[in-house]
Amino acid sequence: MELRDVHVRLPVRTGSPFRRAAVHALTGADLAIAPGETVGIVGESGCGKSTLAKVLVGLQRPTSGTVMFEGEDVTTLRRAERAKRLGAAVGMIFQDPATALNRRLSVRSILRDPLDVHRRGTSAERDERVRELMSLVGLPASAEAALPGQLSGGQRQRVAIARALMLEPSLLVADEPTSALDVSVRAQILNLLLDLQDRLGLSMVFVSHDIQTVRRVSDRVITMYLGRIVEDAPSGAVAGGDTRHPYTRALMSATPSLLDPMEAIRLDGPFPSAVRPPSGCPFRTRCWRATAECGERMPDFVTASPSVPSSSSVPGHRYRCLHPITDPSDLPLATVPQENP
Ligand SMILES: Nc1ncnc2c1ncn2[C@@H]1O[C@H](COP(=O)(O)OP(=O)(O)O)[C@@H](O)[C@H]1O
Ligand code: SF4
Ligand SMILES: [Mg+2]
Repeated sequence: MELRDVHVRLPVRTGSPFRRAAVHALTGADLAIAPGETVGIVGESGCGKSTLAKVLVGLQRPTSGTVMFEGEDVTTLRRAERAKRLGAAVGMIFQDPATALNRRLSVRSILRDPLDVHRRGTSAERDERVRELMSLVGLPASAEAALPGQLSGGQRQRVAIARALMLEPSLLVADEPTSALDVSVRAQILNLLLDLQDRLGLSMVFVSHDIQTVRRVSDRVITMYLGRIVEDAPSGAVAGGDTRHPYTRALMSATPSLLDPMEAIRLDGPFPSAVRPPSGCPFRTRCWRATAECGERMPDFVTASPSVPSSSSVPGHRYRCLHPITDPSDLPLATVPQENP
């Protein structure tokens, strides 16, 4: 799947019938997801992660830009055609399984529904497929007749995963799939997703605000800020502390790993409005590296050069920043590890 310069603007109320305003939920997104690849998406609440996820599954139509899927431009398809094309090929798992599942339907009906809608197989084959998927995601056969309300949060998310896989998608989009769950079951659901991704050879997009979780499950990590993709880094670069965008560094410092303890980077400036984003780099109101030049225009993507100079660039690592982090002295003073006196 490939997004080219995709924008999503959503209308918002202004309180006045004469003034119209729109949230810049997604701005100029360029992104390609290869077969079998897992791409993580991170950023604070409101930065546009869910909007991007919805564009990928066809639930949100771009205001402008192009969405290509398996070589076909799906942007111009009408709503029903798009639902038919992407509905079968792309599965989605939402944050809260309690609201994503119809409370009045049994697990069996919930899982059969996509097969009925897309007229897959005979009635007996559909029932067989329901049992097959329940076993694949680790649900007991006895859960077939249960209503979502009778299941635990973890079991409900397993139902949602089974439903997303019903039509054998090639891409699975998981929007914060564990954040509404108890801490004790998060790892189980995460491991289930990884296992399925591996066994079924799926591409996966994994959305979360926790960069450490994301980099563990993904091949590469995309950082979003105020509707924009600001960095696209291999997970190894995130694990090795070699991301370049100041905002990615701030996210990393908010959830430090045990191996690499680090003080949290405090972002003090005002949080910008998504209705009237700042000129130039959207992060400049909170960035400790900002200069006047950062307000002039949004920096273009730059391919990262290695921090140890041996070759010319790091393949697959790009960021949009005029003053990237390449040395510990580029971090705010308080976060630089102090030598023992
Ligand atoms: N239906 C909507 N109408 C208007 N604004 C919306 C709507 N949904 C989301 N937004 C706004 O779009 C921006 C991006 O939201 P979202 O994609 O949900 O971010 P995230 O998933 O990263 O929290 C936010 O500023 C949010 O307030
Ligand atoms: S472009 Fe400027 S304001 Fe934006 S992240 Fe880089 S240094 Fe900070
Ligand atoms: Mg969201």
